[in-house]
Amino acid sequence: MKTNFERMIKQAEALIETDRYYVPVLANISALIWETLDRINWAGFYIVRNGRLVLGPFQGKVACIHIEKGRGVCGTAWEKDEPVLVPDVHKFPGHIACDSASRSEIVIPIHSRGRVAAVLDIDSPEEGRFLQEDLEGLCGLTKLLEDSMEWKLASCTSDCKVLE
Ligand code: SME
Repeated sequence: MKTNFERMIKQAEALIETDRYYVPVLANISALIWETLDRINWAGFYIVRNGRLVLGPFQGKVACIHIEKGRGVCGTAWEKDEPVLVPDVHKFPGHIACDSASRSEIVIPIHSRGRVAAVLDIDSPEEGRFLQEDLEGLCGLTKLLEDSMEWKLASCTSDCKVLE
């Protein structure tokens, strides 16, 4: 089924309007992705904290809590500061398997004040599940988060006493 990204982004806008704090926003956005996209088995966020990624709000099976920069698909997307679309995770060197059912994955960096503050990560049990149109639709969603979410206290690159 073709995903209606336009409708999903409108729903996301309504959710963000209520409270822009990152905890409820990312929790509800992960649930919205979970409800909207078919053939997925994990959808959620990793947040930059103390120089590595830490697990944020998500839907799906329990997942690894910390990911170092440059490791796995998430750490690679963060290091390169660009979206990474993996049609077959078995062919991605260093892929971190949180759920052995995962076959394809898409990760998109999310910025705050010009730096990567988090990544959106979605897994699918189907090989080649994510297409260019998914990347474009999801980038619309991450752009909305970048523009309208309250990131304060959500992320920091070295010392969490220094607030963004
Ligand atoms: N597969 C990811 C790790 C996170 S789980 O998919 C939820 C990676 O290689 O970075």
